[in-house]
Amino acid sequence: MKIYKTKDYRGMSRKAAAIIASQVTLKPDSVLGLATGSTPIGTYDELAMLYKQGDLDFSEIRTVNLDEYKGLEPENEQSYFYFMKKHLFERVNINLDSVHIPDGMAADGERECACYEQTIQDLGGIDLQLLGIGHNGHIGFNEPEKVFERETHCVELSGSTIEANKRFFASEEEVPRYAYTMGIGTIMRAKKILLIASGEEKAAIMKQALRGPITPEVPASVLQLHPDVTIVGDEAALSLL
Ligand code: GLP
Repeated sequence: MKIYKTKDYRGMSRKAAAIIASQVTLKPDSVLGLATGSTPIGTYDELAMLYKQGDLDFSEIRTVNLDEYKGLEPENEQSYFYFMKKHLFERVNINLDSVHIPDGMAADGERECACYEQTIQDLGGIDLQLLGIGHNGHIGFNEPEKVFERETHCVELSGSTIEANKRFFASEEEVPRYAYTMGIGTIMRAKKILLIASGEEKAAIMKQALRGPITPEVPASVLQLHPDVTIVGDEAALSLL
């Protein structure tokens, strides 16, 4: 596991973008696993800037996102599809036919999860998966559980996740209670993983995830078993390591 500590959020974003940019440069048709939340916004800003400067080409890139809220249409401003369009897809020359996000409106959820898993396999697997981390150690929307869920599945969001994510909605009642997420197995099959974290409020969970016991109660702790993980965090997030 490589750990890069940066001074602040900007530094984290620039380092993470540099790692993703090198992946895109070395393998222009890479399959990138993408994440949402507030942490990767700066990384996407940096990637958009590199594209604008003529330093990056996304024309052959394929993407798969970690997760999506159940019941939100892609046009809904709180959906992760909308987020991705706004923060990355509309700002670079990515082909929208090559981006994949679970369909929050799927009539048959189980089928949607199986299809999503198949899509990732058909793409040849994920070359580089970007991850943020929830306050309870969730990755994607894999909440603390008794077992590691392997494949893409539907989850009931925990109280702490609803609490943390309500800042993006008009009220807590509007936060969807369920979401589709890649499973821990799906994430662990990625060839490379890049986890980013910023801020003091992530320090305790980063210590637990990276130095504590490997347990499904702290989903991100499973990353200790992955052969190619890079952590990029700012001083505050890595202060307890
Ligand atoms: C959401 C997403 C996760 C993300 C987490 C942390 O729940 N599903 O993928 O890592 O939030 O978000 P933030 O980066 O805003 O702290």
